[in-house]
Amino acid sequence: MENFIAYNPVTLHFGKNILSTLGPTLKEYGNRVLLVYGKGSVRKNGVYDRIMDGLKMQGFDVCEYSGIQSNPLIEDVDAAAAIGREHQVDVILALGGGSVIDSSKIISVTIPVEHPAWDFFNGKAKAVKAVPLVAILTLAATGSEMNPFAVVSNHALGQKSAFGSPLTFPRHSFLDPQLTLTVPRNYTAYGIADLIAHCFEAWFGIGETTLTDRFVISIIREAMEYGPKLLGDLQNYEYREKIMFAATMALNGMTMYGRSTGDWGVHSAGHCLSLLYDVPHGASLTIVYPAWMRHFQNKAGDRIAQLGTTLFGEPLTAGESINRIEAFFKSLGCPTRLSDLNIPGDHRQPLFDAMVHSKVNGGSMKMKEEDYAALIDLYL
Ligand code: NZQ
Ligand code: ZN
Repeated sequence: MENFIAYNPVTLHFGKNILSTLGPTLKEYGNRVLLVYGKGSVRKNGVYDRIMDGLKMQGFDVCEYSGIQSNPLIEDVDAAAAIGREHQVDVILALGGGSVIDSSKIISVTIPVEHPAWDFFNGKAKAVKAVPLVAILTLAATGSEMNPFAVVSNHALGQKSAFGSPLTFPRHSFLDPQLTLTVPRNYTAYGIADLIAHCFEAWFGIGETTLTDRFVISIIREAMEYGPKLLGDLQNYEYREKIMFAATMALNGMTMYGRSTGDWGVHSAGHCLSLLYDVPHGASLTIVYPAWMRHFQNKAGDRIAQLGTTLFGEPLTAGESINRIEAFFKSLGCPTRLSDLNIPGDHRQPLFDAMVHSKVNGGSMKMKEEDYAALIDLYL
């Protein structure tokens, strides 16, 4: 086992109608709220109106920033921070999935400073102060609601990068599975795949830690059992609840206890697909993961076989395990090759260049340029 520090300050509010305590929670920080949300799903499903009515009734002074994109953009972060600064907001309320919560984390540390938000990502600036962030999650996938990480794209620089600091944890996160009932089938599947991929990244990290491996396997099993059931019955509250809980546990630090690092090479490669072709995050992972496992089968074969054998309950070789995992992703309706997405053009060179530019690498399985080329060939 590797030495580790466990730290997670997020207060998680989980369950049906849990938002009844949103008002008093926000009041702890003040009266002026910056509400951040995406491109319109919360307006369509009525969640925005419910939240706004409640906030107005309780006397909050609310300004808002909407239009955060999936695969969020740094320009939106800077623009939202300017609004928050102008209104001297006391608290940020993020209403959405990972893209909205990630953006809000960076907005929270950008409001108190004068420099561009990207300075946090390129290491020019450290986060020293943050406007408190409260999150309401509407999509189960990333775990952003209970971790400090934020992933944002900068197309001018050709980068999709991550930032995190102890200041970028949400103070509170509200998770009512009812709010996820309207997530369409494709994004529901991508969320299930993403949470499984987070477990894989931990599994292939550095550090032998049997108890944490058991946590990881339990989370994947939950997703493999209830994910397909949910996709067959999108309105089922209990399935939504199970997947929401699993997604939060998959990236809140727990799967990293006893490891010095996860691998994260697949995430890093997947971000290049999102950057170039706006591939949804979860879909980028179902494309890259089978290829990555095939490519590193020689080095990580035992670990892959152990994963497959444990998950599928029968002795499997590494190769058989990869085939079964790939078939599972397919059964969710996720792409497992870039060609499944029918994006016109020749992608080999742009992808290779993006991987070189982003210095794609894993914590455990190190990658060089020859690995990039081989990986791309395996998932095109
Ligand atoms: O923008 P709106 O209209 O709200 O629609 C969104 C969006 O189109 C929609 N949606 C969200 N909640 C809904 C809903 N539609 C109907 N009903 C609801 N209740 O779903 C679409 C996807 O939303 P998004 O927030 O982009 O998805 P997700 O939660 O998967 O977040 C993806 C982003 O998170 C990053 C990814 O890289 C990507 O940029 N990640 C963040 C991580 C973290 N903070 O720890 C880790 C992850 O590995 C990941 O990298
Ligand atoms: Zn992910």
